[in-house]
Order: sequence, then C-alpha cells, then structure tokens
Amino acid sequence: MKNKIDISGLIVEYGERGGKNLALDGVTFSVPEGQFVSVVGSSGCGKSTLLYVLGGLCGFTGGTVLIDGKPVTGPGSDRGFVFQQYSLFPWMTARKNVMFGVAQVRRGYPRREIRAVADEYLNKVGLTNAAHRYPSRLSGGMQQRVAIARTLAMGADVLLMDEPFGAVDAKNRVLLQELLLDLWSDETKRKTVVFVTHDLDEAIFLSDRIIMLTDSPGSVYLDIAVEFPRPRYRDEMMKSIVYDDFRRTLFADFFGQKEKKIERDSFII
Ligand SMILES: Nc1ncnc2c1ncn2[C@@H]1O[C@H](COP(=O)(O)OP(=O)(O)OP(=O)(O)O)[C@@H](O)[C@H]1O
Ligand SMILES: [Mg+2]
Repeated sequence: MKNKIDISGLIVEYGERGGKNLALDGVTFSVPEGQFVSVVGSSGCGKSTLLYVLGGLCGFTGGTVLIDGKPVTGPGSDRGFVFQQYSLFPWMTARKNVMFGVAQVRRGYPRREIRAVADEYLNKVGLTNAAHRYPSRLSGGMQQRVAIARTLAMGADVLLMDEPFGAVDAKNRVLLQELLLDLWSDETKRKTVVFVTHDLDEAIFLSDRIIMLTDSPGSVYLDIAVEFPRPRYRDEMMKSIVYDDFRRTLFADFFGQKEKKIERDSFII
C-alpha cells in the first residue's frame, strides 16, 4: 500500500527571535492510504500543530511533509478538517452548512445537486430531521455530526480530526465514535484518518495505529499497531484479556513519560 502521508524531521517553531517556542522537534512517520491513525500526547505537546501543518494551515521551520508524494504548501480539497471547537456557521442551517462545504469543491454545480449531496450525508449522520435547524438549536454532539457530514460530503481523501469529540458528553461521545467507524468502514475507498485525542480508550477503539508524542516539544515517543480485528464491538473488545493488557501497557507508557518529565523539572528547580 502506498503512503498517503510522509512526514520527515518536522520542526515547528512559533514566535519571533528572542521569544521562540519549539512546538515540534523532529516528527517522523508515514501513513499508508486508508489507515486510521490516532495521535495522542499531553496537552501542549504539539498535536494540533501537527494537524494544522498537515492541513496546510500552519507553516513549518524544518523537515518535509508530503501528501501523495507532493509537498504540502497550503490547504487543499484533498484534506478535510474537523475541529474540536464547534465550527459551523451560526447563521446557516445544518443543511446550508453542509451545502456550503460541498459548493466549495463542486463549483458551478446546480444547487439541487449540491443539496442532494448535503442531504445524503446529513442522512448518514442521522440528522435528516434536523436539516433545517440552526446550530444554536443543536446539541454539541449534533453540531459535530453536522461538521463530520460536511467534511465527508466534501469528499476529501484525508480526514484530519482534532479532538472532535472532546467537548461532547460521555454517552454521545461513544455514539459518535461508533458512527465515525461505521462511516469510515462503509466507504468503498477508505479515507486516511489522522485523529487527535487525549483519550487512550477512544484511540484504541478507533485506530489501526497509535502514535504517542513525547511531552513538549513533541516528537514520536511510541508508534504502535492496534491489531484488534474489525468490525469492532466495544463490549466484546473490552472484555478480552488482550485488550486489557494492551490498554495497561499504553497507559504505563503515557504516564511513564510524564514521570520522566516531572523528574526533569524537579531537577531544574
Ligand atoms: N499560534 C501559536 N503561537 C505561539 N505558540 C503556539 C501557537 N499555537 C500553539 N503554540 C504553542 O505550541 C505548543 C503546542 O501547541 P498545540 O496546540 O499544538 O498543542 P496540543 O498538543 O494540541 O495541546 P492540547 O492537547 O492542549 O490541545 C504549545 O506550547 C503552545 O503553547
Ligand atoms: Mg490541541
């Protein structure tokens, strides 16, 4: 399988001379086409920065970033973004929000076609009945479903998702994870997904692979395959001893690197 994404020696430094802040320090990994990868790591380690670079929304100081073998120079319709903060236009209904996205990539298409695509994806996320509602009349989980519908309806090959369920309550979060997996598995041509999360259980349930970044400045600390068969059923997965072991090892790694950081900090003090 060819690589969809190739990141090599990525360095991102924010700020001007004198006040520089190194956010990413030599991140290297590749993602084969159709893989679902989660990126986990402590707050501030550079997860969003990494996604913004992939989305062409943030420049970088060093290294190379390729999509389909071509350098990323800016945003493109081959990559769709779902943000943690609800990012719908408040003055447009759910349907209009999705139509707006579709119209960006199908310029000049008749309005009824754009509307049909929007309705198809709103139906996929179970929001046909809420198509006419404004975002202020939708729950957080529903707004994220519209955002997912909008991104999928735009037909990008690569989905970049930055803690998309971070602000959603626990029950809806589980439902959204299942919905996302269903939508991803249903596609004839599987999308390549880079999914940022704080939640290790979410990462295990969703992903083919988990990349854990070190504490800031971020680099790859751990790169591990999640070899549970698909389709995945949460209850069955959680009951298995293999899951338990895998989860424990992952948590140990996650908190292990934090302990190292604390040691380093206390040494400096
Ligand atoms: N626009 C910016 N200007 C300057 N520094 C920034 C900017 N955006 C992020 N940073 C800094 O870069 C580092 C990485 O930030 P980033 O938002 O990528 O982290 P994160 O892993 O996504 O954190 P969180 O889990 O809290 O969302 C942090 O130290 C942050 O303060
Ligand atoms: Mg972030």
